[in-house]
Amino acid sequence: MKLAPCFVVLAFLATAYSLNNGLAGTPPMGWLSWERFLCNVDCDHDPQNCISERLYKDMADRLAHDGFKELGYEYVNIDDCWSDKSRDPNGQLVADPKRFPSGIKALADYVHSKGLKLGIYQDCGSKTCAGYPGSADHFEIDAQTFADWNVDMLKLDGCYADPKDMDNIYPQMTKALNSSGRSIVFSCSWPDYQRAEGMKPNYKLIGENCNLWRNFDDIADSWKSVLSIIDYYAANQDDLIAAAGPGKWNDPDMLIIGNFGLSFHQAKAQMALWAIFAAPLLMSNDLRALEPKFKIILTNKHIIGVNQDPLGLMGRRIYNQQNIEIWTRPVTPTKDSYYSYAVVFFNRRDMGSAVEVNTTMSGIGLNYSEGYDVQDLFRWWRSPVHLNPEDTLSVKVNPSSVVMVKAKISKKKTRNIPYTRTAIFNY
Ligand SMILES: *[C@@H]1O[C@H](CO)[C@@H](O)[C@H](O)[C@H]1NC(C)=O
Ligand SMILES: *[C@@H]1O[C@H](CO)[C@@H](O)[C@H](O)[C@H]1NC(C)=O
Ligand SMILES: *[C@@H]1O[C@H](CO)[C@@H](O)[C@H](O)[C@H]1NC(C)=O
Repeated sequence: MKLAPCFVVLAFLATAYSLNNGLAGTPPMGWLSWERFLCNVDCDHDPQNCISERLYKDMADRLAHDGFKELGYEYVNIDDCWSDKSRDPNGQLVADPKRFPSGIKALADYVHSKGLKLGIYQDCGSKTCAGYPGSADHFEIDAQTFADWNVDMLKLDGCYADPKDMDNIYPQMTKALNSSGRSIVFSCSWPDYQRAEGMKPNYKLIGENCNLWRNFDDIADSWKSVLSIIDYYAANQDDLIAAAGPGKWNDPDMLIIGNFGLSFHQAKAQMALWAIFAAPLLMSNDLRALEPKFKIILTNKHIIGVNQDPLGLMGRRIYNQQNIEIWTRPVTPTKDSYYSYAVVFFNRRDMGSAVEVNTTMSGIGLNYSEGYDVQDLFRWWRSPVHLNPEDTLSVKVNPSSVVMVKAKISKKKTRNIPYTRTAIFNY
């Protein structure tokens, strides 16, 4: 099938506003317990998988010793159900004494001893989503408690709070975290709750108060869930692109790669598109039992390099026809006013075999006259192919899968003879 993608002229907004804590210059990476381990508090019958200090220590060990830390996966993040059912007599939060007998500070010390960072979870309402004590009326004391425990990231959920008040509520925690004196990455759920109420989130204000924020539903362990998130991001891409940048990121939710719901090819698609989105890469899987084929995807340093690109420009969908999508993200290196690009060809069909997609480089906006060195990021050991703007990039994309390339601005002189290459292939 012959495709002629239409190219949308892109306006990248240089936005000055962002939370002034100097953190999350690139999207945070690490591990978060929620999707895989939920609110499993049954340590008597399921000691390996219950929400306990053992679980987070196990994951810290795996991040530190299995090659994840070196790639940037540094946060070990606790989610809901870690605390006791009530505050102590001084009004302070305490960890569940049975499941976290050493306490959160000792856990932070352990995680730090591995060269990693610890994240924790709270809720801005009267209770957390699972019914544990919320932070409402306790922002200062909770922020100080987390700072005293040497916590490095806070995810603040929005159950049991009114979305209409969140423009007022969330900045109170921003202020409390700042007053604590400790640098703590702040993850908000603010726009997600407002969207669910039919409100339009104020991304300028959100960017001034949060380092990352959830926009859409919780991810589930299914391809259907991943597709619904991708569709939301495509449908709202102008707002989301304008909102994102160094220190402030849209969060499409956890990577579920390595669990039960995604095939190998669907897992590649999630990794590739989360890199285009400049999304936080927070895995929610069992690192103690990760199949090698999924580990290869999660540790692909070329795709992580796109995700962590220092420009922090979020990508966009530039083509969408007959269940073939093309997404591009401007990345480094740049020359004059030209960018290099990460490009994802996404085949959403669920029948048949690989679809051949041909497009000229200029047809997807890659017009730098001296051309680009184009490299397949899932088959990075292959040599890059040099393509000029008039050359054709030809890829074969499997159903429910992607081909991802990086087109790096070339230092070579322009060649006069146009030619086409079949740069990429399917597995
Ligand atoms: C795509 O390009 C290749 C290489 O030039 C060519 O062999 C193939 O027929 C083209 N496919 C389509 C569908 O145009
Ligand atoms: C608190 O905010 C000020 C001013 O915005 C900033 O300079 C400082 O680094 C912040 N402190 C922390 C701990 O985030
Ligand atoms: C790239 O070239 C194409 C074809 O000549 C043109 O339509 C498009 O506007 C150009 N895009 C940019 C960003 O210069």
